[in-house]
Amino acid sequence: INHFPWTRAAAHTLRLKTQEYVAFTSRFISYINIPCYFRECCQPDWISFNPKGLEVDLQQRLFGQHLASRIILKAVNWFINNDNTKKPLVLSLHGPTGTGKSFVSKMIAQNLYKEGMDSKFVHLLLSTFHFRHVSQIETYRSQLQQWIKGNVSNCERSMFIFDEMDNMPPGLIDSIKPYLDYHHKVDGVSYRKAIFIFLSNAGGQHIVQTALEFWKAGRDREEIKLCDLESALSLSELNDKSSGLWHSSLIEEHLVDFFVPFLPLEHKHVVQCVLAAMEDDGLKPDTSVADQMAGDFIDFPKPERLFSSHGCMKIDSKLPYYV
Ligand SMILES: Nc1ncnc2c1ncn2[C@@H]1O[C@H](COP(=O)(O)OP(=O)(O)O)[C@@H](O)[C@H]1O
Ligand SMILES: [Mg+2]
Repeated sequence: INHFPWTRAAAHTLRLKTQEYVAFTSRFISYINIPCYFRECCQPDWISFNPKGLEVDLQQRLFGQHLASRIILKAVNWFINNDNTKKPLVLSLHGPTGTGKSFVSKMIAQNLYKEGMDSKFVHLLLSTFHFRHVSQIETYRSQLQQWIKGNVSNCERSMFIFDEMDNMPPGLIDSIKPYLDYHHKVDGVSYRKAIFIFLSNAGGQHIVQTALEFWKAGRDREEIKLCDLESALSLSELNDKSSGLWHSSLIEEHLVDFFVPFLPLEHKHVVQCVLAAMEDDGLKPDTSVADQMAGDFIDFPKPERLFSSHGCMKIDSKLPYYV
């Protein structure tokens, strides 16, 4: 085809303009990163640790857990600020029901991910839901491995919370052992920035016993040190069949970085929980109602009636019956 010279010139200019336009637009898009502007990405805009926020949350919103509060803050700070971590952070939280284990896990997520627990990089696994059928353990093993690998390849700063560890089919957790260990990479994937949190009641009875002994001796609860709970968090206690905890080599092989004890909650802590729940509901804090409610919650051990057997669990749903 024979073009007139001016047509060719115009076409050439147009082509140049189009190329320029495309180049400019793509530079612009990559500069402001449009997809990650609107949707959560595995980037600092969406994942950045707020140490002060975690400290304040632990100090002001978590009641009666001086040990857990201290250990969690130290552990998370140390891990996030360390660029040369050799393995993922593995925390194992132990204690009676309703004492703040899930609550604290949520606080960590909220101060690390902009989307908190709703982040697509935070994963909650419930044993009674996700691993219901003990007979399918082999399937679960490979599924769990693949699933964790997929998530960590997608974002190395991923967080996995394993709730109800007591109900986990024995041996299942061992399938993720290679990921928790000191490996540079497993199968091309590095797990060194991931966070694993295990929640269980194992050791809980022993922790309660220790808290009771301190009380009987007239000693302050805050005097309880981690070493006083050493036997509660020992290998034999946590691997005891009756504790129902995974019979795993995780503990023996020192893959858990921090064991975090949660103490049973006393009357004054339940009062604090009720007052906090009232504030959350936009109600005027009423100490006499909180006192009455706490009185109903405190139910064990039998003669002393010192602790709440369900901690601060279900306070928000019971509150309407009291106010
Ligand atoms: N130590 C605590 N301080 C403040 N609130 C608490 C504490 N323990 C429990 N709660 C309240 O009770 C609710 C249930 O506690 P949770 O963390 O789920 O218990 P568990 O230890 O069984 O995981 C929490 O969402 C929180 O509102
Ligand atoms: Mg829980």
